[in-house]
Amino acid sequence: MKLPFKTLDDVEYEGKRILVRVDMNCSVDPDTKKITDASRIKAVTSTLEELEKSKVVLMAHQGRPGSDDFISLEQHTRILGNLGFNVRFVDDIFGDAAKEAIQKIEIGQILVLQNVRMFEGEMKKASVEEVSQEPIVQELYPLFDLFVNDAFGAAHRSQASVVGFTAYLPSVAGRLMEEEIRRLSEVLSSKKHPWILVLGGSKVPDKLKILKKLLEAKRTDSVLIGGLIGNLFLVAAGKISESYAEPIKDYDSLLETARSLLSEYQGLLHIPIDAAVQRNGDRVECAFDEMEGDPFYDIGPRTIELFTEAISDAKVVFANGPMGFFEKKQFTSGTTAILRAMAECDCTTVVGGGHLGAMAESMDLADAITHISTGGGAAMDFMTGKKLPVIEALETAAKRMD
Ligand code: 3PG
Repeated sequence: MKLPFKTLDDVEYEGKRILVRVDMNCSVDPDTKKITDASRIKAVTSTLEELEKSKVVLMAHQGRPGSDDFISLEQHTRILGNLGFNVRFVDDIFGDAAKEAIQKIEIGQILVLQNVRMFEGEMKKASVEEVSQEPIVQELYPLFDLFVNDAFGAAHRSQASVVGFTAYLPSVAGRLMEEEIRRLSEVLSSKKHPWILVLGGSKVPDKLKILKKLLEAKRTDSVLIGGLIGNLFLVAAGKISESYAEPIKDYDSLLETARSLLSEYQGLLHIPIDAAVQRNGDRVECAFDEMEGDPFYDIGPRTIELFTEAISDAKVVFANGPMGFFEKKQFTSGTTAILRAMAECDCTTVVGGGHLGAMAESMDLADAITHISTGGGAAMDFMTGKKLPVIEALETAAKRMD
């Protein structure tokens, strides 16, 4: 497959000072603030190994301002060190300390800058022209010879560190980005049906938006919904009276969107038909009218049966996000059943998003799944068929480089 942008095959990088944007956004224990799964860090190592004769500066985000997982990149640096890289961290993004460290970097060394989302302007999403004016880009781009974007997980974000540098620097995709685009393009071009989306997890506003786009693009024949987003749909359908989701911004309007999707796509959207709740610390499986006000933490056994049967009849299954509160051991069954059904079905299967991918790995199912994507929202957005901002930006940069 011919890619529409340039890759490391198209540029000279030995001895050059290279800015590499990666997505090392990892799951973090909310209490200890320790990284619980480093697979997104491991996923960028092939690009880093290839750049061993260059001077590499890594730029990445972790969490969002205000979220539990919004932490420094020091731990990520240590993990890279344990993986054998000659790496150091600077607690700065584009100030004097960062610039000095960037100037001093030597061949074979990797410098990790601080979490880019600690700079407020990084949260702005706008055109390449606009975000490239942000100081993070203006201060840093003159220090580099090349920009490598390997942050597939953030490929749907038009933010300064993700697309801004492509306005000034020769820019190419890293190996992970390349691999993800190739594998997901194959799935996108599949004409096989039924094409099933299994949707769960949190980031409810983002997922609802992408779900709407996927439905409008007529991508999917059936959607099986669980997790926090399933919780929203259950409230929208009047099955449970209250959502136990953490406070979500604009909740009422999300509920309204869920209601209108349920009525417009009747028969295509499948919400849970029973629940697993937490009662006195235990998992209790019950009908909705037996929940007694306890929180909906997982899909129940009848839902598991319904969803796994649908998966066994599918030709393509794309799953994003866990079915329940998987951080609590007693509420992992919905998610593990879905992953097992995907591993056993005779179809093309893609698992997207850090949590679900990590779970598939820990269950030793990785070999039985067609592709485990490092992208959550990015992989789903890719499935809408619309070009992702990172791909567009790399394409424009490629034309300028020719
Ligand atoms: C992800 O986890 O999907 C990516 O790292 C992007 O993070 P975001 O949704 O906070 O932009």
